[in-house]
Amino acid sequence: MATEAIPAKAREVRLAAHVTDVVTKANFDVVKAPVREPGDGEVVVRYDYLQVTAVMQDLMREDADLPMPTYKVGEPLWGFAVGKVVKSNSPDLKVGDDVEGMNGWNEYAVGPAQSFWKLDPTMFPTPQHYLTQGPTAYHGIVDIAQVKEGDTVFVSGAAGGVGSLAGQIAKCMGAKTVIGSAGSQKKIDYLVNELGFDAAFNYKKGPIVDQLRKLAPEGIDVFFDVVGGETFEAAIQAAAQDARFALCGALSGQVGNGDGAFPRLDIMHSIVRQIQIRPFATYHTPDQIWAWQSHFSQWLKEGKFVFPHTVVEGGLGKAPQALIDLLRGKHSGNLLVKLT
Ligand SMILES: NC(=O)c1ccc[n+]([C@@H]2O[C@H](COP(=O)([O-])OP(=O)(O)OC[C@H]3O[C@@H](n4cnc5c(N)ncnc54)[C@H](OP(=O)(O)O)[C@@H]3O)[C@@H](O)[C@H]2O)c1
Repeated sequence: MATEAIPAKAREVRLAAHVTDVVTKANFDVVKAPVREPGDGEVVVRYDYLQVTAVMQDLMREDADLPMPTYKVGEPLWGFAVGKVVKSNSPDLKVGDDVEGMNGWNEYAVGPAQSFWKLDPTMFPTPQHYLTQGPTAYHGIVDIAQVKEGDTVFVSGAAGGVGSLAGQIAKCMGAKTVIGSAGSQKKIDYLVNELGFDAAFNYKKGPIVDQLRKLAPEGIDVFFDVVGGETFEAAIQAAAQDARFALCGALSGQVGNGDGAFPRLDIMHSIVRQIQIRPFATYHTPDQIWAWQSHFSQWLKEGKFVFPHTVVEGGLGKAPQALIDLLRGKHSGNLLVKLT
């Protein structure tokens, strides 16, 4: 295969300053940095797509307490990306191989072949299918909430990266009714018309508990929560006997440093209903990744699943604004920035 020219310098995005309130363009530095020559056993990768997720804003805070490395001022951000090997000094990867790496806020990455995962071209229609928040959604729905045949499942933040997968996974696990909440009519239509949710409502239009009770008059068996705050309080009120809650995120608190991570818990109601509340963190263990990828691949082939995603075009320079817009609710599904 003809080798493609590798530029002497390429763009990367660094943390300019920690986020104190909400992320703005001032928190990022888009700079050109040298692309070094690969050493023995190393490869050069040209990234094509970068995945942008809500937690990246939290990783930009100085006091972030998360089970993953936070971003350091002056250093490039990390994030999952897919691309192609364009130069190889390793027998393990060859030029033209599709790979995934973790240092994706870069146009090019140079490192040991073992620091990249070789992608299986037969598994998914495109390499971009590897860039989802599937391991989290799958672990939460299957292992934590243990969704089963006939359940009524409520997913908050349902049109987002994690939520849009969680609702579809619940349906594949046999849920009778899957209800989603999101912040606009466009997203409600997307959930019901394109992702196969049975019902959805706009959490900004009227009390959440009333909307939920109307759609689930017999109560919800499972709640997959990425929002917290009033949504969590409403789900407690609308819970069926022995309901299972999988707490994945607290967007109403994370976005703009609000107090959504501290909802009130109606303890007596929770006791009477015997609600099991399980917060969880996904560590992306090989088992968790494989459980998701193998099912996602199968469900796509069976026509049961949509890859919910939005692509922002225009290169790495668009990634900072993509994160800002994601948190403002502009995008649906898993957010990818096209780098090439
Ligand atoms: N537990 C784990 O292991 C784990 C792993 C990965 C991610 N997470 C968490 O999962 C959550 C979702 O992450 P994601 O990357 O998929 O984000 P996302 O849902 O794709 O994107 C953010 C969404 O937040 C919503 N939003 C913004 N302000 C809100 C508010 N005040 N109340 C309710 N919703 C609001 C917006 O949707 P609307 O337009 O609908 O408002 C926006 O689209 C985050 O909390 C993240 O930290 C947890």
